[in-house]
Amino acid sequence: MRIDVVSIFPDYLSPLQLSLVGKARDAGLLDLRVHDLRDWTTDRHRTVDDTPVGGGAGMVMRPDVWASALDDVLQDGAHLLIPTPSGEPLTQRNAEALATESQLVVACGRYEGIDARVAEHYRARGVRVTEFSIGDYVLNGGEVAALVVVEAVGRLLPGVVGNPHSLVEESHGAAGLLEYPVYTKPPAWAGLEVPEVLMSGHHARIERWRRDQALARTAARRPDMLAALDVGTLDKHDLATLADLGWRVVDGALTRD
Ligand code: ADE
Repeated sequence: MRIDVVSIFPDYLSPLQLSLVGKARDAGLLDLRVHDLRDWTTDRHRTVDDTPVGGGAGMVMRPDVWASALDDVLQDGAHLLIPTPSGEPLTQRNAEALATESQLVVACGRYEGIDARVAEHYRARGVRVTEFSIGDYVLNGGEVAALVVVEAVGRLLPGVVGNPHSLVEESHGAAGLLEYPVYTKPPAWAGLEVPEVLMSGHHARIERWRRDQALARTAARRPDMLAALDVGTLDKHDLATLADLGWRVVDGALTRD
């Protein structure tokens, strides 16, 4: 997969040389290119922004500079991503879909954002454009969100994560639950013991305990995920655990008592 990130702060993207994503690049699984938007300016001051039409605070990024950059960078079939707090939430499902693309181009806005005609222009030309948010808070620009999407997508590329099984059980995986708590050695530390069942060697009991922990965690931290769960994925024991936690199936959906 090829990913291009365009930003006025290309150095902000330097962490992408590290760790898993860096390894994916070195292994040739990910062709990541970071560009400085100002390379497409034509004036002496390398201007990328101007005042908002209609008035208001701050500055808006110019569509002509962005289009010069994007026309050069976008390849056939590319998916253009624009991070913005007003975008749709980025989810694991989106990341999975993005991991099947041939090219992602991330256009990082700063100031009050990118002139809205940029997204409109590329959509009209048949480019898939997704404006996405990484959470309900406002950052100073799209660079951190670009780091987030590159890591979330990059680890899903075949061959990047060593053990693909670790992608199945994790939070926001296929089960629709948060992941159970994990432990390592030593078995006793700071007066805290690893739960005994995990040392029993009894695989079925361990699996049941982990499932119950995942259900309890999700109920406590993300009740919205339980409410959205496909109840067809729940067995009798799951339903008993959920009943103890105060959740019942009503009209085909989990509901809090
Ligand atoms: N740019 C500024 N805030 C953002 C957010 N929450 N998500 C994505 N891009 C952003």
